[in-house]
Amino acid sequence: MKQVKIGICGLGTVGSGTFNVLKRNIEQIQSRAGCEIYIQEVGARRDNPACDLSGVNVVRDIFEVVKNPKVDVVVELIGGTTIAKDLVLEAIENGKHVVTANKALIAEFGNEIFGKAAEKGVTVAYEAAVAGGIPIIKALREGLASNRIEWLAGIINGTGNFILTEMGDKNRDFADVLKEAQEKGYAEADPTFDVEGIDAAHKLVILASLAFAMPLQYDKVFTEGISKIETKDIEYAEMLGYRIKHIGVARQSDDGIELRVHPTLIPKKRLIANVDGVMNAVVVKGDAVGPTLYYGAGAGAEPTASAVIADIVDVARQISSGAVSGVPSLGFDKLEDRSILPMESVKTAYYLRLLVEDKPGVLSQLTKVLSDLEIGIEAVHQEEPGEGEPCAEIVLLTDKVQEANLMKAIKQIESLDSVQADVKKIRVEALG
Ligand code: HSE
Repeated sequence: MKQVKIGICGLGTVGSGTFNVLKRNIEQIQSRAGCEIYIQEVGARRDNPACDLSGVNVVRDIFEVVKNPKVDVVVELIGGTTIAKDLVLEAIENGKHVVTANKALIAEFGNEIFGKAAEKGVTVAYEAAVAGGIPIIKALREGLASNRIEWLAGIINGTGNFILTEMGDKNRDFADVLKEAQEKGYAEADPTFDVEGIDAAHKLVILASLAFAMPLQYDKVFTEGISKIETKDIEYAEMLGYRIKHIGVARQSDDGIELRVHPTLIPKKRLIANVDGVMNAVVVKGDAVGPTLYYGAGAGAEPTASAVIADIVDVARQISSGAVSGVPSLGFDKLEDRSILPMESVKTAYYLRLLVEDKPGVLSQLTKVLSDLEIGIEAVHQEEPGEGEPCAEIVLLTDKVQEANLMKAIKQIESLDSVQADVKKIRVEALG
């Protein structure tokens, strides 16, 4: 049996998980790869990893792994975009294939990395970078290869989904649930990556590059997080037949490509609206297959290891069969730059929450602003003010409207004397 030698860099949560799953399932993994997978060297700066390293050659300097002439595949699991970038580029320069779980690295520097990999004829595989254990990269690259992808939408940050689920189910406030997510180890080292949508934007841009065969354009993603969602919005949404989820949407139309991450009302009847807790899910709509849904654990040691090892198996098969590299799915030189629609031009429906004086004529003032701007209304709900309270809360669902037009309406509404607070807006997607 041919032997493929791997070098693992990083023994944190994902590194240790990868090591443990490889050890536990090695026979099956090798039989699927059609070759022997041998851990040549592990580079780790930390002591006490959550795995048994006996019999394995461990070095402190991770760059030794990429310099080791015996290593065929470097598995980068250190995270971040500084040392990890140098490590990956050096590995490629040295003619090694790379497997990485690093979403920020691929989203922000993928174009450079893939360019270099194509030049050197090696593969960079990154299944674990998006949605943990869900094989969504392979689904886009292989299973859906015959389709023109119309759109995809995903819950691709487990921490955000956990926070919204707990807020809705247990009427807890945002800060309280975030603290629990951090204690449970779901959140990124910097929680703003999770709650402000940065982590989801990294993942979305990777999915979009595969779906639409275009270079990675992380700087063009519209990103809005969940930190301003209140439990009352979740309750109103529920009453109107919706759930609030934080999703990444990539859609192609004649006008351009939409790349956006934001909280969204989704009809309760959609399967993705019922994906709760830390779980992830991605819906992909292909022109031939129709809508497809992929669900699973988006983070955690072994779910992520599952994806890392799937890539190791792919690369090992490629090496042992002598196949040419496939970086990324279509050959990097063939990807075209495509125009990304500015958010002002994107059309979606909206949920609006307003605090208004409880007096006659206010609702007609609001509807006049909307009708003058040709914005249709789908639903209206007014909450009765509490005893002695002068203000009432009104919730509206609009038809689809261009964002720039909606912003114009909000400005006019906020200037009405009867409107007592900034208008709260959340986008609505049917995802049908
Ligand atoms: N912080 C990320 C999440 C981890 O919550 O989804 C997996 O990328």
